[in-house]
Amino acid sequence: MDYDIADLGLAETGHRRIEWAGRRMNVLAAIRDRFEKERPLEGITVGACMHVTSETANLMLALRAGGAEVALCASNPLSTQDDVAAALVDGGIPVFAVRGESAETFYEHIHSVIDAGPDIVFDDGADMTTVLHKERGDAPIIGGLEETTTGVIRLRAMAADGVLRYPVVAVNDSATKHLFDNRHGTGQSSLDGILRAANILFAGRTVVVAGYGDCGWGIAERAKGLGANVVVMEVDPIRAVSAAMNGHRVRDGRAAAREGDVFITATGNIHVFREEHFAEMKDGSILANAGHFDVELDLGALDRMAVSRRRLRESLEEYTLPDGRRLLVVAEGRLVNLGAAEGHPADVMDMSFANQALAAEWIVDSGDDLEPAVHVLPADLDREVARLKLEAMGGGLEVLTDEQERYLASWQDGT
Ligand code: NAD
Ligand code: ADE
Repeated sequence: MDYDIADLGLAETGHRRIEWAGRRMNVLAAIRDRFEKERPLEGITVGACMHVTSETANLMLALRAGGAEVALCASNPLSTQDDVAAALVDGGIPVFAVRGESAETFYEHIHSVIDAGPDIVFDDGADMTTVLHKERGDAPIIGGLEETTTGVIRLRAMAADGVLRYPVVAVNDSATKHLFDNRHGTGQSSLDGILRAANILFAGRTVVVAGYGDCGWGIAERAKGLGANVVVMEVDPIRAVSAAMNGHRVRDGRAAAREGDVFITATGNIHVFREEHFAEMKDGSILANAGHFDVELDLGALDRMAVSRRRLRESLEEYTLPDGRRLLVVAEGRLVNLGAAEGHPADVMDMSFANQALAAEWIVDSGDDLEPAVHVLPADLDREVARLKLEAMGGGLEVLTDEQERYLASWQDGT
């Protein structure tokens, strides 16, 4: 079996880590049990470009239980858990991912997975999809899945340009994905990354959150919960008002730069904090990015402005400016939760990856019925994931009575 990982000797630790995550992925486990019996992915090869974590490993094992052959590479050069990669290889799944790999190796690894001959592509950020459209147009893909907001934005741009050549399911757009993973997962794990990198106290600090979408909402709420004063930066007036009514101060970039102690981007946009903001920030400011790509902090500009730069702690780099101010960047400006911590906890990845598994089955079941366009999973599958999660959490659902059903379907009776 062909593979490229850091160290196969790490497999034992990886197996334990995968087991620990699996214990909190009950919805995925239920799907895996059904897949074992029904084998809906028999004869299918899956090529996955995803963060190589213990949660992703559980997804790969569920797909294999469903009959699929699986090959995996990383969707970010800094997010791979090398012990998990080793455990998967030890279990017979080819993995091409090494934590800290160069951009060149990152793309070589994507090509290695495409060489495995995937029928279905699991992507996180659309890098494999882009390679498949720009360089590997001959690969016979029947469908794709996309995990994150930025990937879905790229796919919709491809569809608008008329170049998308197979159907893709925007898993991110399932309610049981973005309302939980993006909000609660990114909210908690981004702060976890900053804590592990810098070990600061959030209470009493001013935390600037750029972007008040699902991720920004989660980060702002969790920072507030730790006692921080939250400042939100937004370009969308509706989201900005929503932040204000949730008790956060809303400021433009220059004002936020002057007020903040910690800056966290979650916009999916480029150069959100740049020279004009770095010029205003206080000495000791900490900068982190939770968005998919490492473009949200303009680190090229910061590097040009700095007189020196040094690694202060494992995931913390210090830039000293000519006037003596020091700005600290977490995890090289890459996804802070995966670069400096372990990503979202398994409890929430459970629903995201249940959607992924069901989406792969849906693509296979749909045969040629799906157009080469961006699709969203049917609402009944979304609700089923939520129902199973609630059950696993020990919750109970109320059921409408016949009278209530009739009442909700009627218009004749008012006051
Ligand atoms: P979203 O579209 O819900 O929110 C993004 C928000 O940023 C929007 O409200 C938009 O108006 C705002 N914005 C855009 N440009 C801005 C700017 N220059 N200044 C201030 N605000 C700006 O997206 P989301 O689901 O919250 O995802 C945000 C990013 O996080 C994406 O790149 C997504 O792929 C990524 N993501 C990361 C993780 C993770 O594990 N770290 C998880 C999920 C999503
Ligand atoms: N994205 C965010 N957290 C993740 C995790 N734990 N595993 C895979 N992808 C993720």
